Amino acid sequence: MLNGFRFFKWCRDQFDEAEAREPKPGFMMGALIDAVREGTMTRADAAAIVLQIIIAGSDSSASLMGSMVRLLAQNPEVQEELRAKPELVPNFVEEVLRLESPFQGHFRKTKVPVELHGETLPENARVMLLWASGNRDPRKWPNADQIDLHRAGPRQHLAFGHGIHLCLGAPIGRMEGRIAMEQLLDRTDWVELADGDFPHRKSVFVRTLERLPVRLRSGVRSGGR
Ligand code: HEM
Repeated sequence: MLNGFRFFKWCRDQFDEAEAREPKPGFMMGALIDAVREGTMTRADAAAIVLQIIIAGSDSSASLMGSMVRLLAQNPEVQEELRAKPELVPNFVEEVLRLESPFQGHFRKTKVPVELHGETLPENARVMLLWASGNRDPRKWPNADQIDLHRAGPRQHLAFGHGIHLCLGAPIGRMEGRIAMEQLLDRTDWVELADGDFPHRKSVFVRTLERLPVRLRSGVRSGGR
């Protein structure tokens, strides 16, 4: 809890410093500062938005990167294809988002009764939207549990949510994933699992590896196996 307060204070300090520097127009911090100055937002709310964006955008991207490296190391044929055709890296990023959705689900409350597949959820029901489950629904995804670098509509997954709350940072998350994978492939000749376990954090919300021991090889071509 104390750390949460410290983090919030740090976000507030960032906001104050940005205000003192007069940020350029067109940047998010500038829009928040304008809103506070015009009185349409409190300073605390602006700092809370800074905090929300930092939280939403850090662990999620890091989880994606860990899962990408794991699936790359565990699927040699995928790794070989990506090394031969780096233009498929964006599809790989989408497949990892689909299969290992960094946020597995989020809570909602129904405002009105909702009918879904013949079941009625009453008003005020607490439900969890399981993005990760929809992302493996065989009615939507043939061979749902497999990585397919040539899937039609690879971006049609729910890893960034859906509707009005669709992830604000999806383009950044995708770009971070693509650049990290391109760099890893570029700087190594082969990536494989090393000895040791790679447990996931115990959580119903996130799909995050606690650790991932890997061996990075260079100077070895064609799989190095
Ligand atoms: C791989 C990376 C990411 C994943 C998988 C991801 C996933 C998600 C998901 C599933 C939601 C929907 C939440 C809901 O419906 O309740 C969401 C919302 C959000 N994300 Fe991301 N996110 C990622 C990266 C980022 C980044 C980099 C940023 C900011 C720079 C960001 C900022 C946000 C914000 C502000 C929301 C709330 C949007 C709203 O409620 O209108 N995310 N994200």
